[in-house]
Amino acid sequence: MLTLHPDTSRLVHIMIQSAGCKQLVEIGGAYGYSAIWLAHAARITGGQLTSLEINPKLIEIAPQNVAEAGLIDRVEFVPGDVRETLSTIETPFDFVLLDCWERLYVEMLDMLATKLRPGGILVADNIDPDKEESDPYIQALHNHPLMETVSVPIGRGIEVSTRRLAST
Ligand SMILES: C[S@@+](CC[C@H](N)C(=O)[O-])C[C@H]1O[C@@H](n2cnc3c(N)ncnc32)[C@H](O)[C@@H]1O
Repeated sequence: MLTLHPDTSRLVHIMIQSAGCKQLVEIGGAYGYSAIWLAHAARITGGQLTSLEINPKLIEIAPQNVAEAGLIDRVEFVPGDVRETLSTIETPFDFVLLDCWERLYVEMLDMLATKLRPGGILVADNIDPDKEESDPYIQALHNHPLMETVSVPIGRGIEVSTRRLAST
């Protein structure tokens, strides 16, 4: 299983701080690697992370790793399929890391766009314009009326988007 690349981790850590993001959400928590980066950024901004994970074994392991990093007070772990759990989380989101299976990304996009605050940030990992399987998400995202997006060739490839401000 691929964790967030260290360079991508550092970039999102910077983004969260510079945009003052407090309500953070990650989709695909796995063993808690990215959760540690996001929770650390949340501690700096005074925010909180909600980590969504479908695999029941991982949702038990991740809290142990986050606790070892001393950040457990910053994270709520929500088990289950994101397509069912996302609607239970308090909105608006300031920052979302989309890092589950790529085939779900297009399906998630409208829901995420409407739950982000204007000016909020969406980062999708493992998206590479040179990979055919990334095409549907890139097309959907770059044509989305609510989102402004750039492909960033860092780590395993990410799409960085913001929800447009109402006036733009
Ligand atoms: C690439 S891994 C996440 C890595 C993690 N973000 C990190 O950097 O440490 C993808 C994760 O998405 C989870 N996942 C896949 N489909 C999901 C779904 N429908 N709802 C929630 N989690 C899902 C998988 O179980 C897996 O743990």
